[in-house]
Amino acid sequence: MSEATIDHAGTAGDDPTFTVWELIRGLSRFAAVHTMVDLRCADHLKDGPLTVEELARRCEANASNLGRVLRMTAALGLIRQVAPNTYELTESGMTLCEDAPNSMRPAVLVNSEIGSWLATNAVPQTVRSGRGYMARHGTYYDYLAGIPEINHAFNEFMRSRTEPVAAAVASRYDFSGVGTLVDVGGGNGTMLAAILRANPGIRGTLLDRDNVVPDARANLSAQGLADRAELVIGDFFASVPAGADAYVMASIVHNWGDEDALRVLGVVREAMPDDGRVLLVDILLPDDDRPHVGREMDIRMLTVFDGGRERTRSEYLDLLKQAGLRGRVVADLPMGLSLIEALPTG
Ligand SMILES: C[S@@+](CC[C@H](N)C(=O)[O-])C[C@H]1O[C@@H](n2cnc3c(N)ncnc32)[C@H](O)[C@@H]1O
Repeated sequence: MSEATIDHAGTAGDDPTFTVWELIRGLSRFAAVHTMVDLRCADHLKDGPLTVEELARRCEANASNLGRVLRMTAALGLIRQVAPNTYELTESGMTLCEDAPNSMRPAVLVNSEIGSWLATNAVPQTVRSGRGYMARHGTYYDYLAGIPEINHAFNEFMRSRTEPVAAAVASRYDFSGVGTLVDVGGGNGTMLAAILRANPGIRGTLLDRDNVVPDARANLSAQGLADRAELVIGDFFASVPAGADAYVMASIVHNWGDEDALRVLGVVREAMPDDGRVLLVDILLPDDDRPHVGREMDIRMLTVFDGGRERTRSEYLDLLKQAGLRGRVVADLPMGLSLIEALPTG
C-alpha cells in the first residue's frame, strides 16, 4: 500500500498549471528513485533501519546529498524515518530490492538507462521526422544486445510485467487440444513457464535472440522445466519452428509497425498447421481518449521503437485478417493487456 505524503500544492480543480507542474516534479521524483536504485539503497536497508551516515558509507556515497534523496523518497512513501536521520523500507520500497518477488529494480534501471533518456528527449524529433531515435542502433533489441547489464535488466523487467499476465493466461485460457506450443520472442520464458506449469501435457519451444535465450534457459531450468522446453536462437522475421498446435506472441506485435508486424505474423502463419492457433497478448487501446495504460505504453513504443505502436481491437483484428487469421478477444488480462485467439481463415 502506498504511503505517499507528496504535497500536491494545489489541485487540478483550482490551478490550471497543476498538470504541467506535476509532470515537471515527476522528473525530480524519478531522479531520486533512480538514485536509490543505482546506489542499491533498498538492498542495504532490507535487513533493517540505517542512519543516513551508515547507509552512505555502505553505498559509498556523499551523506549530505544522499540525505536529500532519502527525504524525497520518504515523501514518496518508499522509506520512512523511524528516528532522527534513520530510515527503514516501506512495503513499496521493498519492491526495489533486487531479490524482491517481481522486483521493480530492473524497471527503474531500464527506464533510466542513458539511451532510453536520449530517446525520450528525442520524441519531438521522432514525431517531426517519422523516424525513431533508436533506428541509428538498428532496433531497440540490437541496442540492448550491446549493453549486457541492461539487456538482462530488460528481460527481468519483462518478467515483472509478464508474471501476473502469464498466470492469468495459464488459468483462463482453455489449452485442451494443445500438445505443442511455440513462444515467439518468448523473452526469459515467464509466459512459457506459467503455461507449462499449468498444463503438464504441453511441450514448449521458446524462440528468441541469442542475447536473451541464456536468460530463458536459466529461468526454465530453475523451475525444473528444462526437459519440457526447447530453446531456439533465431530471428522471427526469418522463421519460427513449424507444426506446433499453438503460437504465443506476447508483447511482440506492439513493438513493430504494420509492415513488420505483418511480416512476423506471415512467418507464423506459414509455420503453423491449418488447425493451429495464434495466442496474441497485447494491449487493446480504447477507441476514445479516456485514460488507459496503453497511452503511456504507446508513447514508450514511439520512444524506443521505429514503428512500434499500441493498437485498438479493430486494428488488431484487421492486421490479423491481413495475415490470413481470424481473431477474437477471449480474455482481459492484467496490465491492460488482452488475449486474442486467432485461427487460420482457410
Ligand atoms: C517485449 S519482449 C516480450 C517478451 C515475452 N514475450 C514477454 O511477454 O515477456 C519482446 C521479445 O522479442 C524478442 N525479439 C525481438 N526481435 C526479435 C527477433 N527478430 N527474433 C526473435 N526474437 C526477437 C526480444 O528479444 C524480446 O525478448
